[in-house]
Amino acid sequence: MEEPVSEGKNSNLAAARASKNGEFYTQWVDIEREMNAYLEYDPDVFRGKVILLPCDDPEWSNFAKFFALHFSDYGIKKLISTSYAPNSKPADIPYQPTLFETESPQFDKQKTFSHGKKFVLEDKDVNADGVVNIDDLQWVYLEGDGDFRSDEITALRNEADIVITNPPFSLIREFIAWLVEGKVAFSFIGPQSTLSYKEVFPLVRDGKFWIGKGFAKGDSYFRIPETAKTDYAAGVYDPATQLVHFRNLTWFTNIEHGRRHEPLKLMTMADNIKHSKHKQVRAVGYQTYDNFDAIEIPYTDAIPSDFEGIMGVPISFLEKHNPDQFEIVGNEYSLNLSKGRAYVQGQRKFARIFIRRRKAQ
Ligand SMILES: C[S@@+](CC[C@H](N)C(=O)[O-])C[C@H]1O[C@@H](n2cnc3c(N)ncnc32)[C@H](O)[C@@H]1O
Repeated sequence: MEEPVSEGKNSNLAAARASKNGEFYTQWVDIEREMNAYLEYDPDVFRGKVILLPCDDPEWSNFAKFFALHFSDYGIKKLISTSYAPNSKPADIPYQPTLFETESPQFDKQKTFSHGKKFVLEDKDVNADGVVNIDDLQWVYLEGDGDFRSDEITALRNEADIVITNPPFSLIREFIAWLVEGKVAFSFIGPQSTLSYKEVFPLVRDGKFWIGKGFAKGDSYFRIPETAKTDYAAGVYDPATQLVHFRNLTWFTNIEHGRRHEPLKLMTMADNIKHSKHKQVRAVGYQTYDNFDAIEIPYTDAIPSDFEGIMGVPISFLEKHNPDQFEIVGNEYSLNLSKGRAYVQGQRKFARIFIRRRKAQ
């Protein structure tokens, strides 16, 4: 099922969904930036771990290449990457087996189309060149097409400590349910709107799912198959770089990183009313909701540092959320607000998250 996508900012993503089942490939720099955030917090985050990269393909994607390069310095125990069968993808995605595959003794000219593949790197210098790297990757055809929901890939999830990928967004709810069921650490790319899904928000509220470091300035760029470029709205695909550009994607994870522990710097309520750069707050003060006992905060930087009650903030607050500073109380749905929205003087507000300041220890 496709998610309904609103107009405007989200139309890039609507185009991506309508096109080749989200066939776009993550850039090395973006993987590196996100993983570095976890490593800065805990240099041993990947040490001794089994890492699974589903919905991937090392011949195309950077995820397996990135982790294979860092296999030894990160101290990874085992790296598994699985790819999805070309026949299971939309018909017009061009597919040509690589020389790596065709020159390999197990190459099968039928299976290359109908089956997924599994690539494994362990701490074994298979080609005896003195280093363990991508050249030591071993591969086999999977029994099935590599669908992450299959028993075969689920068994690999059960073996894994950490699952990392850029999954198909049309299946993102199932993907998240699959991760949660597997009780694994995870890091993946998805649309920001995922945070408000009714199955996902309770995880966010309960501190089991959060935003990662994210893309630099919120801009994400991906490589796409040649045939998909006409599927994107003008301005989304850049022929010069051959990349598509989205503004509404981010990384989601349950792995710790530093930004999550930086407190937001905020002014008191009195200072906000005196000095806020937002005219909705300056001199006017904070409004209360008609249908919920909380104050309305139109911008994250206008959260007063000294208010003890519940505050409604925009969803973008979650990009700055530090769980030691604020507790997430709920959203319109989890708190059963009438009509599923917060109102101020009869006016419906955009989606809000309700938070409360944690008491100083
Ligand atoms: C957004 S792309 C990302 C590819 C790669 N992980 C990367 O980041 O470069 C998602 C990939 O998942 C594949 N895919 C689609 N449905 C899938 C499924 N049910 N199970 C596994 N992979 C799937 C798509 O064909 C596509 O290659």
